[in-house]
Amino acid sequence: MRQSSLVVVSNRLPVDDSVAPDGACEWRRSPGGLVTALHPLLQHVPATWVGWAGGTGPAPALSDIDGVRMHTVPLSHDDVRNHYEGFANSTLWPLFHDAVEQPVYHRRWWEAYQRVNQRFADAAAQAAEPGATVWIQDYHLQLVPGLLRAQRPDLRIGFFLHVPFPPPELFMQLPRRAELLNGMLGADLVGFQRAQAAHNFAQLAAKVLNLPATDHRIAVQGREVQIGAFPVSIDMTEMEALARRPDVVARARQLRHDLGDPQHVILSVDRMDYTKGIEQRLKAYSELIADGHVKVRDTVMVQVAIPSRERVEQYQVLRDRVEREVGRINGEFGRVGEPAIHYLTQHFDRAELAALYRVADIMAVTPLRDGMNLVAKEYVAARVDDSGILVLSEFAGAAAEFSQAYQVNPHDLDGLKLTLTQALRASPSDSTNRMRGMRAHLRKHDIRAWARAYLTELDETGTLAARLTAT
Ligand code: ADP
Ligand code: G6P
Repeated sequence: MRQSSLVVVSNRLPVDDSVAPDGACEWRRSPGGLVTALHPLLQHVPATWVGWAGGTGPAPALSDIDGVRMHTVPLSHDDVRNHYEGFANSTLWPLFHDAVEQPVYHRRWWEAYQRVNQRFADAAAQAAEPGATVWIQDYHLQLVPGLLRAQRPDLRIGFFLHVPFPPPELFMQLPRRAELLNGMLGADLVGFQRAQAAHNFAQLAAKVLNLPATDHRIAVQGREVQIGAFPVSIDMTEMEALARRPDVVARARQLRHDLGDPQHVILSVDRMDYTKGIEQRLKAYSELIADGHVKVRDTVMVQVAIPSRERVEQYQVLRDRVEREVGRINGEFGRVGEPAIHYLTQHFDRAELAALYRVADIMAVTPLRDGMNLVAKEYVAARVDDSGILVLSEFAGAAAEFSQAYQVNPHDLDGLKLTLTQALRASPSDSTNRMRGMRAHLRKHDIRAWARAYLTELDETGTLAARLTAT
């Protein structure tokens, strides 16, 4: 087994197996913010990415992707049920997102979570050369830092949480709260999206584990664990280059034509997830049509909602409800050849997404809670002519960076309707000023700045940060 000086560990690898129209198995880039952030960073860096390729049974052997070694971890049917769909996505995901859906607690899920975390820790230990840096990602793997340190004290270990970290009142519900905190504290550096999350973590370390803790460091058995906020980002240059490509410009023109050359296009792009506020947004939009504020001929809404975690009941219920609502709205307000909402559940390649962003006069990103929301950043990056309006939930991590967006509380239906109406009536000069401000911010705080900030803190020598952000 070849070993690397940098090992990234995440539940999800950047590829997902899917079935092509002819029935053959094909690999494509998996949707989701974690992969979007890490994929451009790791290109052409000699590193190993340890993760799950999406199926059940023996791990498929994957060839290197852009020079990065893929080390696949197998998950059985039972692991997927109890670790991925169970503890990770029915307990932790809802709990960490303000409990917008009820978190579910089952003892057998915890056993699976421990077992799978151990398997990831073993895989990381195998892949790491002596003294290597191992960078563990997200809520599926919160025990891995501690398990890995127990086997390999020679490693430099980082952990980054892509989702929100909840306030103590919520986290205290977790039956296994002490074990999870201890697991994360196996790292040398624990990173969060926002300073509030680091504060919540420090409070919990003091309250549950009785450790001396500030918002910057926690003392654990003679070690110092650093904690801090590192808001994740995207590869702005890549998205800008895509958005400028002549074929993407032509495709955007074609899309607008296909939509009936309306005055306004409103776009939303989400994983089909109850945290994304899709139902609230649809309701606001349909009320705007019913009230006469929006005419279907002039204003077109495009909702892209790629199915996600499809065997988890809460996700199935959501999809049914969204599809019923889209059907109702189109039945009531659409005409032949003129639907009120264009609803798409397909996977799109990056160029098609860039074309969609180019077409969108208004981008509606209104999650009920979101660690960051990289779709908002992709939209800003794609608006190379400084036009376009971002309507953004206050509860997305991105809101802390994009003060120039039209910010909104997605729980407040009247507020959401009002904000969408204001966006539809905004003056081009005001929109341009706002977009320029957001683009300037994003340019400074792109994915390389994120990696540089995090890795410089993790590895004081600066060697790793320099290697990863050189391109
Ligand atoms: P999350 O991490 O919760 O999925 P983000 O907005 O941070 O939310 O990231 C979603 C990522 O998935 C973005 O990079 C977006 O471009 C990508 N994505 C969303 N929908 C699709 C789709 N239909 N096809 C391909 N990629 C998608
Ligand atoms: C979010 C999570 C990621 C996850 C992604 C897609 O971005 O933070 O860890 O990979 O959603 O979800 P999935 O369940 O398909 O991996």
